[in-house]
Amino acid sequence: MNSPLNAAAAGQVTLGGDLRVNRLGFGAMRITGPGVWGDPPDVSAAVRLLRRAVHLGVNFIDTADAYGPQVSEDLLARALYPYPPELVIATKGGLVRPAREAWNRDGRPEHLRAACEGSLKRLRVEPIDVYQLHAPDPTIPIEESIGELVRLRAEGKIRHIGVSNVTVEQLERCEQLAPIVSVQNRYNFDDRQSEDVLEHCAAHGIAFLPWAPLASGRHATRPERRRALARVAERRQASVAQVALAWLLQHAAVMLPIPGTASQTHLEENIAAASLQLAGEDLSALR
Ligand SMILES: NC(=O)c1ccc[n+]([C@@H]2O[C@H](COP(=O)([O-])OP(=O)(O)OC[C@H]3O[C@@H](n4cnc5c(N)ncnc54)[C@H](OP(=O)(O)O)[C@@H]3O)[C@@H](O)[C@H]2O)c1
Repeated sequence: MNSPLNAAAAGQVTLGGDLRVNRLGFGAMRITGPGVWGDPPDVSAAVRLLRRAVHLGVNFIDTADAYGPQVSEDLLARALYPYPPELVIATKGGLVRPAREAWNRDGRPEHLRAACEGSLKRLRVEPIDVYQLHAPDPTIPIEESIGELVRLRAEGKIRHIGVSNVTVEQLERCEQLAPIVSVQNRYNFDDRQSEDVLEHCAAHGIAFLPWAPLASGRHATRPERRRALARVAERRQASVAQVALAWLLQHAAVMLPIPGTASQTHLEENIAAASLQLAGEDLSALR
């Protein structure tokens, strides 16, 4: 692939009618310490990586208060504040990390309000462009969680509301309360369990942020899928990760992958995938 290295080559998608971003974003979960806990081993390298991503046209970055916790948001502000006007930062609340292994759901309105206030301070923004409910809390109705995000939006602390790890039924309940501009579910070439959620997003113009977009490459559960990716990668003289991303981009116009990495080499490899056009025979082989 000899195309220019820029996320803009993936095309654009609009969130909430006013935030137009390049369709290849960056997931800032992997810039923290091992196990998404604490500081990264080399803070300066993480800062350089974030600046490099923006330099290469990334203008949508996903983070969460739970990454670190707090470390990912702190690093984003440290690396990129004052933010370029075109940069959209989407953060999340609703998961708490009392320990490295713990990702506990807390969708209570009072927790979401406190989490949002913390993110506003760490990111040094007001409003937050996109604030996502990280995951529904099974102990309370999703309407109570989203209801608090609606109030935060009315107060000017959130521009748009997104959700994550939802079913179509949960998404439809959220849409009764407010426009939902993005859905972030696990989705990749190997794991298409959220195909129905993606179809709903495509039909309603909601951006779909597949998390673990590269899992199909390294951790595919089905060997035949890994082999299919490898064959296409060889034919296109690309890496398996690049084919996995290109497949996502060509699968739906609302798709906004957010691959994460702590490596500058992998960052550049992933952004190069924005320029990889899979041919009909490739897409047939990847059905
Ligand atoms: N909403 C949710 O519940 C949820 C859950 C998980 C993640 N997320 C979001 O989604 C983003 C992406 O998810 P993810 O990090 O789990 O999955 P991913 O982006 O599919 O995979 C990241 C892993 O792949 C490696 N990698 C990255 N680029 C590579 C390349 N070109 N070649 C080979 N390996 C590569 C990374 O290691 P290196 O550092 O060595 O490159 C890292 O271990 C996260 O950053 C986060 O923002 C959301």
